[in-house]
Amino acid sequence: MLTIAMPKGRIFEEAAELLRKADYQLPDELDNSRKLIVEVAHEDLRFILAKPMDVATYVEHGVADLGIAGKDVMLEEERDVYELLDLGISECYLAVAGLPNTPMNEVAPRIATKYPSVTSSFYREKGEQVEIIKLNGSIELAPLIGLADRIVDIVSTGNTLKENGLVEYEKIKTVTSRLIVNRVSYRTKAKEISSMVERIRAII
Ligand code: PRP
Repeated sequence: MLTIAMPKGRIFEEAAELLRKADYQLPDELDNSRKLIVEVAHEDLRFILAKPMDVATYVEHGVADLGIAGKDVMLEEERDVYELLDLGISECYLAVAGLPNTPMNEVAPRIATKYPSVTSSFYREKGEQVEIIKLNGSIELAPLIGLADRIVDIVSTGNTLKENGLVEYEKIKTVTSRLIVNRVSYRTKAKEISSMVERIRAII
């Protein structure tokens, strides 16, 4: 049996749809219940439903063989797992945003983000010294309320920025979801994993 860590939230729907297109017969229970572990015996699969930021943790520690994780999380966390496939789903991008026509504070610019590591490398490469403020969500609040000059966050439809009167200053990187695998499972369950990879590859 393969255990797959699925991200709850916005990636979930597209990830489940992708698996169904690859002809996995998945029960509605997977989408609709509050259960955190769903076993699909007829497919020899077990799903664990995790927070997107935690998917790679379960896979790295080997309690999940496989996982579906956004490239944003992979860049931020640098987990010791193999990235097998770019699934091409949940496309969005990481960007710098802030209030319009507002220059960064020259002395001590502050950047709020859920991605401190990505943000710090981005500004280091530009040779700019910034203070990074880690938030866990609703990042767009930070410039509105005077906590930060800029944010580094995911932009998908752009609606959150727009509805909060923020503008994009710079695009950092395109993000899609990836199929990741535990290093040991990749060897010990090679057959099952490569058969799943082939089924998914065939439809992406
Ligand atoms: C993400 C991201 C932005 C928003 C972007 O937040 O952090 O806030 O989605 O999407 P959009 O461009 O389509 O508006 P999410 O909804 O995951 O919640 P969070 O604020 O708790 O991180």
